[in-house]
Amino acid sequence: MFTIKWEGDAVVILDQRRLPVRETYSTYRHYSGVVNSIKDMEIRGAPAIGVAAAMGIALASLNFDDAKPEKFRERMNDAIGLFAAARPTAVNLFWAINRMKAVLESASDKNSAREKLKAEALRIYEEDIAANREIGRLGSAYIKDGDTVMTHCNAGALATAGYGTALGVIRAAVEQGKKIQVFACETRPYLQGARLTAWELMKEGIPVTVITDGMSGHFMSRGAIQKVIVGADRIAANGDAANKIGTYGHSVLAREHGIPFYVAAPVSTLDPGVATGNEIPIEERSVDEVAYIGERQIVPEGVFIRNPSFDVTPARNISAIITEKGVIENPCGRGITGFLQGLK
Ligand code: MRU
Repeated sequence: MFTIKWEGDAVVILDQRRLPVRETYSTYRHYSGVVNSIKDMEIRGAPAIGVAAAMGIALASLNFDDAKPEKFRERMNDAIGLFAAARPTAVNLFWAINRMKAVLESASDKNSAREKLKAEALRIYEEDIAANREIGRLGSAYIKDGDTVMTHCNAGALATAGYGTALGVIRAAVEQGKKIQVFACETRPYLQGARLTAWELMKEGIPVTVITDGMSGHFMSRGAIQKVIVGADRIAANGDAANKIGTYGHSVLAREHGIPFYVAAPVSTLDPGVATGNEIPIEERSVDEVAYIGERQIVPEGVFIRNPSFDVTPARNISAIITEKGVIENPCGRGITGFLQGLK
């Protein structure tokens, strides 16, 4: 299984919309296919959509091969604009696009642009896997043998170039021989937990139990959950973290029950450009995701529906932010800016 891969002059993407029933892959030779793949959630998860955009931009440079030099840059910039408009919340998308833009600007001509863009996209892919392994190594120190760890959405191999962030921490703990049980919240309405987290953990033989989102408080109150670990789509300067809708509620419950709540994310998810979580743009997706489960309508016709796809967990509810460059413990009050300055 792989989430995304550069193969020949094409981008191959696992169609996550069909999981867990079918494991099928789409091959894109034109960048517009990759734009749609991100928009339609064929590929999803903050780091994975950053990698997809990087590969898609490299693909665009091949697609515009016969454009005149002055037209080439214009068309590349139009393509980049389409990637930037694909989804608004995950900052990894914009982080990857900015890296690709800088490479495009530094290239002397079309041929060198093509080569350099492909090399940069592959670097972003490789770096993401390496970052996740390091997040796993650092984060596994917080997981004890025998813990039951709850997660929300999918922050696994499927949401990244490989290995995963939150699930990377769980994987690393399991690789160290710790016996870990995972509670995967189903993650209404798109069901990333039930469909994707359960699928990828089961494939690997890591014990996983699916619960509905509303069950987390019950299990916490009965002492069945020792840790919560989730991914993030964007972490603001003050340490507030946007993640899949429902995460915030779990964080409040975890705090109420004195359960540590960890956010695992690469440095590319940190956005010091937004002061607090209130400034993070929250994607609103189609109301049909709420009105239907598969083909089945579950809400009466004509009823108003809202479907924000993310919420913000305040820094005060986060025990630690685990990145590949180090762990920010108790981010409340200090945020991420000092940590980022320390990396320079
Ligand atoms: O809408 P999605 O499926 O792209 O949302 C994904 C999440 O919220 C993940 O938890 C987040 O991107 C972190 S993935 C390592």
